[in-house]
Amino acid sequence: MIIAVDGPAASGKGTVARALAEHFGLPWLDTGLLYRAVGISVVRADRDPRKPEDALAACDFPEALLDDPELRSEAAGKYASFVSAHPAVREALVDRQRVFANQPGGAVLDGRDIGTVIAPDADAKLFVTASAEARADRRYKDELRSSADADLAAILADIEDRDRRDSERANAPLKRADDADLLDTTNLTISAAVQRAIALVEARTGKR
Ligand code: CDP
Ligand code: CDP
Repeated sequence: MIIAVDGPAASGKGTVARALAEHFGLPWLDTGLLYRAVGISVVRADRDPRKPEDALAACDFPEALLDDPELRSEAAGKYASFVSAHPAVREALVDRQRVFANQPGGAVLDGRDIGTVIAPDADAKLFVTASAEARADRRYKDELRSSADADLAAILADIEDRDRRDSERANAPLKRADDADLLDTTNLTISAAVQRAIALVEARTGKR
């Protein structure tokens, strides 16, 4: 059973994907981490994530980088959205994601193009979304936990920029697959969103 979860930044797709993996006893891959690792590698090498050749050179990043807490920063999300626009970078990361998706027993993957490109034949597809304001507010609250000077207006502007870059790129843009169920989490608590996600996947797959 393959479950594809896509959506924009801070929509709650990671939270939903993790909970689905636990509920159905499946392994989970947060594919955004791969793009974040490439983005951080480029910047640490003093190169430019907007340049395709610099980004491609960073695609064989060391595995241990995936555990680096800096990958979770909003800056890493921005670098990821630069490198992810290069077709050669997406190409370099496809096999790894497909191998994960097609492992025996199945898997849950979350990202931007799982239901459209990585696993178009997934058994269940969710497109998780929320208003930009709600998403910025979530990131703001996350940031307040680690720093006193989080800036809500700046976070909202970053999220809107990233939405635009991810939706407008030519290659594998962020978009809802025709056969994906929409899950709008704007006014849902985490547990309500998770319950709804489980119900949608059960309805699609007949599995409990
Ligand atoms: O968690 P959040 O949505 O903020 O970010 P993420 O899922 O870690 O993704 C970071 C960036 O990587 C996105 O803004 C996309 O540009 C890119 N990405 C992508 O292009 N395709 C994916 N399957 C996953 C992430
Ligand atoms: O993976 P993605 O960037 O789409 O979002 P996430 O990391 O799952 O969620 C971003 C933040 O929003 C986290 O702090 C979640 O706990 C929170 N969240 C929420 O407040 N309400 C939801 N329905 C889902 C997530």
